Amino acid sequence: MVSQLTDAFARKFYYLRLSITDVCNFRCTYCLPDGYKPGAVTNKSFLSLDEIRRVTRAFANLGTEKVRLTGGEPSLRRDFTGIIAAIRENPQIRQLAVTTNGYRLARDVKQWRDAGLTALNVSVDSLDARQFHAITGQDKFRQVMAGIDAAFEAGFSRVKVNTVLMRDVNHYQLDTFLEWIKHRPIQLRFIELMETGDGGDLFRKHHISGATIREQLLARGWIHQLRERSDGPAQVFCHPDYVGQIGLIMPYEKDFCATCNRLRVSSVGQLHLCLFGENGVPLRDLLSDDTQQAALQARISQALSAKKQTHFLHQGNTGLTRNLSFIGG
Ligand code: GTP
Ligand code: 5AD
Ligand code: SF4
Repeated sequence: MVSQLTDAFARKFYYLRLSITDVCNFRCTYCLPDGYKPGAVTNKSFLSLDEIRRVTRAFANLGTEKVRLTGGEPSLRRDFTGIIAAIRENPQIRQLAVTTNGYRLARDVKQWRDAGLTALNVSVDSLDARQFHAITGQDKFRQVMAGIDAAFEAGFSRVKVNTVLMRDVNHYQLDTFLEWIKHRPIQLRFIELMETGDGGDLFRKHHISGATIREQLLARGWIHQLRERSDGPAQVFCHPDYVGQIGLIMPYEKDFCATCNRLRVSSVGQLHLCLFGENGVPLRDLLSDDTQQAALQARISQALSAKKQTHFLHQGNTGLTRNLSFIGG
């Protein structure tokens, strides 16, 4: 089905990132350094299973083929497996992914897979257990590693790993990361640290361009892959001696937004046209019963005309985004 979701710059949106909770049990330095505080961003309850069913059905009817569940930590919801199954009831949604901190993987990944999850992105900012603890506030490195192994055992043929690139923290550890993916089907993505409303100091201290990694990769014989429509924001590199791949997500690079293919819905049902810089369009008043489906779809399509060409991050715009835990990155 051709996506009916097209913006003024002819970008088509086949991909919805749906946040299902703001709650997180980690305290990543770049996201929630003081931990999740109930009510800090919103006092509203998070979308119910029925609301999630309705909003994803509306997007599916408009041509969405892929949904990614984000958070907070999405798997902390008790009904997480039920959410996966409910979204997969839409035959149009062919890919259903989750971005997770990995905490529940070892215990539950098989169950998620059986319910219909098709892809997994796991955050791992360091391969050193002590440094992992220092960055996330949780001594869970071994648990997360066991979770990634469990994902392969459960039948995922490939896993994406997110590593936020931070100067003097992990920017000099490329060889350690490369060794790790030599024999593992992992696409490890270095994500440039983004400046959020709460994270200005950290950004000034630790931001480093992904271009430094790109230079090192090219010098080591890694090859830049051509981009495909379904690709996310990452520039992907591969090497004949490595099973794994490296991705670079560089939101400060010129033209990063030209290939934007995703829309976001927050955990309280606001449609966000961009990760940064706007308040969102409310959808929740149309999610309370099945009779408002047509109005919901019309509101989503109309909202798109306001999507801007770029996030303006390079002009210092952090907008209303205090941290990424409520919108799921
Ligand atoms: P897939 O292609 O579905 O794997 O998408 P992805 O790589 O975007 O998924 P993931 O949730 O792993 O995203 C990784 C990180 O990339 C996010 O947490 C954000 O930090 C960043 N990111 C993803 N999309 C955008 C975007 O549209 N704008 C910006 N500035 N950053 C993004
Ligand atoms: N900069 C870059 N990435 C961030 N994430 C959260 N906050 C930031 C930030 N300030 C991303 C990380 C993490 C995912 C859940 O969100 O990639 O793995
Ligand atoms: Fe939690 Fe993810 Fe934010 Fe870390 S980055 S605190 S795991 S929501």
